[in-house]
Amino acid sequence: MTVAVELLRALPKVELHCHIEGTMRPETVMDLARRNHVPLPANDVRDLYRYRSLDEFLSVFWLVQSVLVSRDDWARLAYESVVDAAAAGRVYAEVFVTPARHLAAGQSLRGVLAGLGEGLAAGDADTGCRTMLIVDMDRAYGPDAGRQLVEGLAQLRRAGAVGTERVLGIGMDSTEIGVDPLGYVPAYRAAAAAGLRRTGHQGENSPATAVAAVVEQLGAERVDHGLSLAHDAALVQRFADRRVPLTMCPTSNVVIANAFPTVAEHPLPRLRAAGVLVTINTDDPALTNLDLAREYAACAQAWGWDFDQMVDLAVDGVSASWLDEADKRALAERIRTEAVRLRPAPDPLAGS
Ligand code: ADE
Ligand code: ZN
Repeated sequence: MTVAVELLRALPKVELHCHIEGTMRPETVMDLARRNHVPLPANDVRDLYRYRSLDEFLSVFWLVQSVLVSRDDWARLAYESVVDAAAAGRVYAEVFVTPARHLAAGQSLRGVLAGLGEGLAAGDADTGCRTMLIVDMDRAYGPDAGRQLVEGLAQLRRAGAVGTERVLGIGMDSTEIGVDPLGYVPAYRAAAAAGLRRTGHQGENSPATAVAAVVEQLGAERVDHGLSLAHDAALVQRFADRRVPLTMCPTSNVVIANAFPTVAEHPLPRLRAAGVLVTINTDDPALTNLDLAREYAACAQAWGWDFDQMVDLAVDGVSASWLDEADKRALAERIRTEAVRLRPAPDPLAGS
């Protein structure tokens, strides 16, 4: 079974797990590196985009992040990111930014969010998309830096700083090795107190108990990846019963985490069959030569899913989002209506 990528491109889709820095066009990485005097260890940055582990990937991700220096750089990144995602049929997104590295280098959170807010607004205006932000803590900088980031964000929101109107919540990402998620309890408490929504990367490189801790001890409402959950049947049942969404990234788990040889071995179908609310996302599309339409096509192909099953998955993306209930209903309706228009006619030769 294959579903044509062009059909999946035309289907309106939601994305809940995408790092905006990981969407930077290679040409933009190289241009900003030149302008900002950031040395790159390759003439063509694409030559660096091969990873044997999450931590090896992160060293490349951090290099890409380091080319972002000015407010205009952030605005350009955000604008191009929305335009590129819209070309893959993305209509609504909640995207991550992880500014720890930039703050440590002297940039202000106010400036980062102002640049992003400006670029997202321009991109959304040109494409008709809606793109919101999740500010992620970088675990490589530790829990104190994380809590300070959340407190700084809450303060900027109270002051009505530019760009904060797009920030829905917080999360955490980066390395999992040797990190106890419970260290982030104060940061997650501060976020809840400030009325911020909460998610967190876990289970990409850590056991199922760590995935459970993010929900049950940190109070996260979603988990990003949550791969290792699949190893614990009792936990799978708990996540299914509570409808805790997992924002999964099958191709990323193959090429970044190296968790499976191919998407065919990914546990998403098994988790979904067990009742877990799973969604499909690209993670870092420009660093893995991907877009959301091609991710949908790769999943359909690997798991033998037809167009209608992919439409159901797209609608599950809406359910897992942080849109309000009226907006969720409207977007789900839009996806279903468009799917009816796009649905391929039955093959008259099928079954003959
Ligand atoms: N930052 C960007 N992509 C990431 C991933 N897949 N896991 C953790 N941190 C990330
Ligand atoms: Zn991620």
